[in-house]
Amino acid sequence: MDHEMTEDIQGTLNAIEQHEWLLDWSRFGERVDALEMLEFQILDRIENVMYLHGHRTDLAVLYRRAAQLWLRLTDINTQLFQCLHDELVASTNPAATLRQQVSTYVGKGTLRDPVGYDDLDVLVNGLFGIDTEPEETRPLKPGMIGYQATPARFILDLVERIPLGPDDVFYDLGSGLGRVALLVGLLTPAQVRGIEYDPGHCAYAQQCARHLPVSRVRFINADARDADVADGTVFFMYTPFRGNLLQNVLDRLKRDAHRRPMTIATYGPCTLDVAQMDWLALSGSQEPDDRELAIFQRL
Ligand SMILES: C[S@@+](CC[C@H](N)C(=O)[O-])C[C@H]1O[C@@H](n2cnc3c(N)ncnc32)[C@H](O)[C@@H]1O
Repeated sequence: MDHEMTEDIQGTLNAIEQHEWLLDWSRFGERVDALEMLEFQILDRIENVMYLHGHRTDLAVLYRRAAQLWLRLTDINTQLFQCLHDELVASTNPAATLRQQVSTYVGKGTLRDPVGYDDLDVLVNGLFGIDTEPEETRPLKPGMIGYQATPARFILDLVERIPLGPDDVFYDLGSGLGRVALLVGLLTPAQVRGIEYDPGHCAYAQQCARHLPVSRVRFINADARDADVADGTVFFMYTPFRGNLLQNVLDRLKRDAHRRPMTIATYGPCTLDVAQMDWLALSGSQEPDDRELAIFQRL
């Protein structure tokens, strides 16, 4: 690593260290930025250089400083999440409390990547206690897609655009670690079900739910092809499966849709497949876009 790079790291580190206001709970977005900078622009970089070129004392010193700062800022976030979590649990109106928390700490958020995650996702993971992504505990079958979280802003979009009342039953097909179901359960009065094939992911979601005021949310460890979803009124899929498996699940929904109104919301590549179904109509006049939330109504 050349001198210029060492100076660059030192400059970034000095700047973050001088920003004492990063320790204020209210500076959540800036703290998330600083943590990312420490992780990707300093810690990862130094690790790579030392891995490739061997130990360097000056870099080791910078590394220790950056690691301490990272721990300090992470600790502030942990305290904040605990406080917000306690407030949510004690609230008589968790939906209003959560909306207030989001508006106070995230506002409109900083989109780190147009199709990726933002500060809202960091807040949601912190509140729900999702700190690690567990390994898959059951090998996926052909057509099944592994875990990846829907960016939380699309779930806020979903609850804005689909009026979910106490008579609704919302299903997240392929619910992963439970973020979608938990958010919908907190923000709406609907009954909520998460169907997840992987037993480890399902247990993780159940564990998160135990610590939140979400008595109307249940997680069921099942293959979406076999699960009884006949009471569902609103379904969500973040591309949990494709090909024949997706078609099989859509055929079942189509049979049930004759009996009652049904809304299907999708995100990701499965949107383009669902848009091909002649029994569903995409809400709004736009073309289906796999980078946005799509909402389909039964015709
Ligand atoms: C892309 S992730 C979406 C996770 C979750 N909906 C979210 O947005 O946070 C897809 C999930 O579907 C699950 N899955 C795949 N095939 C499934 C099936 N046939 N039945 C139930 N779950 C399935 C995977 O294990 C994975 O957790």
